[in-house]
Amino acid sequence: MNASQTPPAQTSTGTRPTAATGPAPELATGPASGPVPEPGPRVVLITGASRGLGLELARALAAEGRQLVLTARNAAELAAVEAELAAVTKVVALAGSVVDDDHRERLAEAAAALGGAELLINNASTLTGYDLAGAALPRLADFPLTGLLETFEVNVLGPLALTQLVLPQLREHAGAVVNLSSDAAVEAYAGWGGYGASKAALDHASAVLAAEEPQLRVWAVDPGDMRTRMHQEAFPGEDISDRPLPHTVVPAFLALLRERPASGRYRAADLLAGPTADLLAGPTAESATSTTDEEHR
Ligand SMILES: NC(=O)c1ccc[n+]([C@@H]2O[C@H](COP(=O)([O-])OP(=O)(O)OC[C@H]3O[C@@H](n4cnc5c(N)ncnc54)[C@H](OP(=O)(O)O)[C@@H]3O)[C@@H](O)[C@H]2O)c1
Repeated sequence: MNASQTPPAQTSTGTRPTAATGPAPELATGPASGPVPEPGPRVVLITGASRGLGLELARALAAEGRQLVLTARNAAELAAVEAELAAVTKVVALAGSVVDDDHRERLAEAAAALGGAELLINNASTLTGYDLAGAALPRLADFPLTGLLETFEVNVLGPLALTQLVLPQLREHAGAVVNLSSDAAVEAYAGWGGYGASKAALDHASAVLAAEEPQLRVWAVDPGDMRTRMHQEAFPGEDISDRPLPHTVVPAFLALLRERPASGRYRAADLLAGPTADLLAGPTAESATSTTDEEHR
């Protein structure tokens, strides 16, 4: 979110800006059937695809004819997604956690069996590493260390470990990695220290990976506030109906795939608002890598 554009709101976890609301942008997806579009990734691996943003990304990419490898822990919810999207495209859905070594291996193998992942979307995430059960986000002084450890395992170690496994496939296809970030990675909100620190770590790892793998695109993307289960858990008992639904930011991700701007950190709001020329100019100066667009091609 762009804090300068929106008034701050008092929350149970301190002053935290809310997302700008307004008319939802059109979802830029193609028809469910028809030719596979060119260019773009053919095989996409998405974590946290059973609900929220991950599900909406899976729906949009399926509609574009991409083949999908999807994961989340809840097997029943994931199976429902698989059943929905199998009518549209080839889908392999494997239930499990991104912190499980064997599960990550199975995900990478499934992508390889489809011909190799051309896009990895590290979307699965946790706020605290434990069930908040309606409680407020803990301050760092009180953060249970087991929860902090799980937060970093789910939000940083898991994505990096999965990236390691999939990198050979991504290199083969000059592919891309999308790591889901948050404004909490760059702003200091009381109660958001564990989650924010983990997202900041993922941002930095994304930037280093981009420098080390110049043939790839590595994008850290802040989607902005979205009306999802995670967001509701962060604001227990509060009305979050003013937050936009996750499908409204999907066109920002589709723009990244279509335009392939330089690796770096992007905000969905900027991608949705900016003309293509601005997008191709790359991310904000402090977050951009030194790699130019031309060098990637
Ligand atoms: N919502 C927001 O306002 C907001 C703002 C900024 C950034 N983000 C980021 O956007 C991304 C999507 O968030 P969301 O709001 O869509 O969340 P969400 O609705 O709670 O969905 C999270 C997804 O991740 C899965 N997941 C959680 N832990 C997992 C694990 N250990 N292994 C595998 N899958 C796991 C969940 O399924 P299971 O529980 O069944 O595993 C679910 O499919 C996250 O990276 C989040 O940090 C969200």
